[in-house]
Amino acid sequence: MKKRLIVGITGATGAVYGIALLKALKGIPGWESHLVLTDAGVLNVWHELKMKRKDVERLASVAYHPKDIAATIASGSYVTEGMVIAPCSMKTLAAVAHAHADDLVSRAADVVLKERRRLVLMPRETPLNLAHLRNMVSVTEMGGIIFPPVPAFYAAPKSLDDLVAHSVARVLDLFGVHTAKLKRWQGSQRNSRRPRLKASGCSMFAMWAACGMLTNFAPGTCSPMYFVPAAAPSCSPVIASTGSLMSFSRAVVLSFMIAWPQPM
Ligand SMILES: Cc1cc2nc3c(=O)[nH]c(=O)nc-3n(C[C@H](O)[C@H](O)[C@H](O)COP(=O)(O)O)c2cc1C
Repeated sequence: MKKRLIVGITGATGAVYGIALLKALKGIPGWESHLVLTDAGVLNVWHELKMKRKDVERLASVAYHPKDIAATIASGSYVTEGMVIAPCSMKTLAAVAHAHADDLVSRAADVVLKERRRLVLMPRETPLNLAHLRNMVSVTEMGGIIFPPVPAFYAAPKSLDDLVAHSVARVLDLFGVHTAKLKRWQGSQRNSRRPRLKASGCSMFAMWAACGMLTNFAPGTCSPMYFVPAAAPSCSPVIASTGSLMSFSRAVVLSFMIAWPQPM
């Protein structure tokens, strides 16, 4: 039996994520997609991609109407690996967070949560109000995964397709589907020879400055003169008077410099 993944596409902007997920699933052996596209989703799919409902539904193994509350995926007895809602509107997020299962997207998500299967939401809205944030917390508390479609710039995307494909591949990772196409982080190339001991002059200065500020607030060492000399230790007259604290601070700074990865 093929593994079934439910895909919900709702009326938030970013229909391209749901479409890319459906296309990716078509090429993954042993998996099938079960699509629910909401009416607001149809509006956005047309607006953003000039696709009609039937064009999107053709990409799925099985498609259901959002009002079809008697569909197989509305029951926990129908086994699936879980569900992704991409993109997920704030309305559907709220419905999932409050188990308000009045359409097939929110009902299927409700079932996935009650069966302790994997639910991944790609919520799209900005900025967020307190209700949005609280609803995300509620879904997380119930075991769902909030996966906002936020680009990973370390992957150096060259196009919108790259950017979308990266997020979709990371979502599939969450279902144990590891696609070869995903450009994964391999560590910093720049530091591959001496990966951890290198620190830029700027970050070193920032560390010493932070160190100086820390020292400045230590009891008995408070003087406006401390800021500059403590930030430039080679000429600091305060080291002798606060020697042990400075040594400690230096050790902290050094350990940061050793452990702190370089920017990509
Ligand atoms: C062009 C357009 C863009 C929209 N973008 C968003 C969005 O990014 N996030 C969101 O929560 N709602 C967005 N909406 C509003 C939702 O479509 C609306 O709340 C709808 O009721 C969601 O219903 P659904 O969750 O059943 O699809 C947008 C609507 C339109 C027309």
